[in-house]
Amino acid sequence: MTDATVSLRRNATVAPVRRRIFGSFVEHLGRCVYDGLYEPTHPTANEDGFRMDVVELVRELGSSTIRYPGGNFVSGYRWEDGVGPRENRPRRLDLAWHSLETNEVGVDEFARWCALTGSELMMAVNLGTRGVDAALDLLEYTNHPSDTYLSDLRAKNGSPEPYDIRMWCLGNEMDGPWQVGHMSAHDYGKLAGRTASAMKMVDPDLELVVCGSSGSAMPTFGDWERIVLEHSYESVDFISCHAYYQERGGDLGSFLASSLDMEYFIATVVSTADHVKHKLRSDKTVNLSFDEWNIWYLDEHRESGEIKEGWPYAPRLLEDVYSVADAVVLGNLLITLLKNSDRVTSASLAQLVNVIAPIMTEPGGDVWRQTTFYPFATTSRLAQGVVLRPEIDSPTYTTKVHGEAALVDSVATFDASDGTGAVFLVNRDTEQARTVRIDVSELGATSIREALTLADDDVYAKNTLQDQNRVTLHPNETASVSEGFVTVTLPPVSWTAVAFA
Ligand code: AHR
Repeated sequence: MTDATVSLRRNATVAPVRRRIFGSFVEHLGRCVYDGLYEPTHPTANEDGFRMDVVELVRELGSSTIRYPGGNFVSGYRWEDGVGPRENRPRRLDLAWHSLETNEVGVDEFARWCALTGSELMMAVNLGTRGVDAALDLLEYTNHPSDTYLSDLRAKNGSPEPYDIRMWCLGNEMDGPWQVGHMSAHDYGKLAGRTASAMKMVDPDLELVVCGSSGSAMPTFGDWERIVLEHSYESVDFISCHAYYQERGGDLGSFLASSLDMEYFIATVVSTADHVKHKLRSDKTVNLSFDEWNIWYLDEHRESGEIKEGWPYAPRLLEDVYSVADAVVLGNLLITLLKNSDRVTSASLAQLVNVIAPIMTEPGGDVWRQTTFYPFATTSRLAQGVVLRPEIDSPTYTTKVHGEAALVDSVATFDASDGTGAVFLVNRDTEQARTVRIDVSELGATSIREALTLADDDVYAKNTLQDQNRVTLHPNETASVSEGFVTVTLPPVSWTAVAFA
């Protein structure tokens, strides 16, 4: 019996699969950098102090662009502190996370780390305590080939070749009262516009991201985007979106439908950006950089008081341990980003290691995959060619937070060059398995390459240091293809990928 149908039409193309959708985020926060990707005394550490076991898992995760060094951290950061001989680097107070910043890792080390992981560095500049001058200096240091003070300094510090960083974030969440240097939309829009214009005088091809709202629940949401873009539209290329989700009050049904909020968020920011475009009679389109998205049990962190008095080095902050349900929601959010990749052309899972992360480490010890690692890594690996918008016919259920939601959600990708494709699906039903019939007749699919499902009898099962492989992917033996239709059964609260040829 079929519960839902998905039709894939060859010409229902959303956009090419953009690798930048699979970006991630590394912030100087808690144990993300220090005691995470950097641990010089670890047995696998390289000459820079980076753990190579972490590098290997980052490669397996398949993250593309990596946003750095914050986040809230960047709004008080002096990039110059992190270059030159390590023994001369100053120790500073990090106001964002009430921690000690030793500056052992700076832009040069991080650029080398990105090269090790095969990822693209996306740099954020400090528009909280600093401005145009510091942004231009950092740009000259990282991107100018040679024969200037700062490019020669980079060479002296061991990197004669420029890093040629293409994407730059103009500050971080400047709408948030928690942000160091928090500003009004008008003040920030003017500063971002001036910074962007100056950076483009150095290199007109830079891709610049202006800060949108830190969340769709902010009281200034909508107006913030409009005002900021009115001041900066012609000099920027992206506007950022940030969204975090969590299960609240035991309402699993609403949590599983979190992607509906992401859809609403994207639609609102697209309309606002296009409103400004038309108001300014501009030819150019500003796209969305969804450069922070994830599951984050923020309410629990607020209550736990984990940010303590004092200024600790690499404290354990925001170390969420993710469940099967969390991984299903994350897989669904990634489906949503792909569905909207005509306008969301870059995204960053926040974050990468230890801090609300798919990868966890123990100092001196192991590295392991959280549940959320699996849908991300598998989607990044299998999504090739173009994104196809499926027509989905699914039963629905009623959620307290998002109204009516489909029980089955899905997106597909197809690579016409070799006739391979993949369908990514979630079943939000908490009780029943759902069988889905997928019309692949226009894609000429005749065989299943692989079918993988993440599910568990206990939707709150997690991977931990003691039990690192409690939750993994399992082959879905129900997947079959016949006469132009793929059929697959999705267990309750599950995420599935079916790759066909
Ligand atoms: O990712 C954690 C924090 O969430 C970031 O520092 C900030 O930008 C956001 O509020």
